[in-house]
Amino acid sequence: MIEYDRKIKKQLKTLKPEIESWLKQTVSEKRFEHIARVAKTAKKYAKKLGLDHYKAELSSWLHDCAKEFPNEKLLEIAKEKNIEMDEIDYIHPHVLHARVSALIAKEKFAIDDPDVLGGIRCHTLAEPNMSKITMVVYLADATEPGRDRRFAAPIRKTFKHKGLEHAVLQAIDGKLSEVIEKKKPIHPLTIKARNWLLGIL
Ligand SMILES: [Fe+2]
Ligand SMILES: [Fe+2]
Repeated sequence: MIEYDRKIKKQLKTLKPEIESWLKQTVSEKRFEHIARVAKTAKKYAKKLGLDHYKAELSSWLHDCAKEFPNEKLLEIAKEKNIEMDEIDYIHPHVLHARVSALIAKEKFAIDDPDVLGGIRCHTLAEPNMSKITMVVYLADATEPGRDRRFAAPIRKTFKHKGLEHAVLQAIDGKLSEVIEKKKPIHPLTIKARNWLLGIL
């Protein structure tokens, strides 16, 4: 029997239509479909692990809500709301969409649960000390059925055989390889997240 937070269950039920209609105005159809697949995948992963799937689902529905904001808007919001930034955020403001999406979840949709907000905030760069729900959202975003099979299939296999933390580490490594391949800078949050995972495995 999975223990779950009744408040989140209720919040998901009442907020979902509002979130969906907001997303339909702010993201493309293709993005909306990705978000829906992440929610479905995160729900499945959470259930498999005996975690609160309502939290995983709510977090997933909002994880990319600022994904299509222009870079200038992301930077403007981040500065205005005092989001902690690294110099890489100024070079590649797009990565801020995760932290800005978490801010929208908090301010527009009144979400205060640390797991739900963590899943949104960490889904791109990861972070040290992520909760299990937060990692479920990270993993669901990286491995939802729309993702390239060559990237996602080995990670799904690791999740099945070695568990959540190993799969998240593999997803981080996979994303880092792409960043290195493209000669892009590595965000310090990802390095910290990876070192943290190595320390707990
Ligand atoms: Fe994203
Ligand atoms: Fe996403």
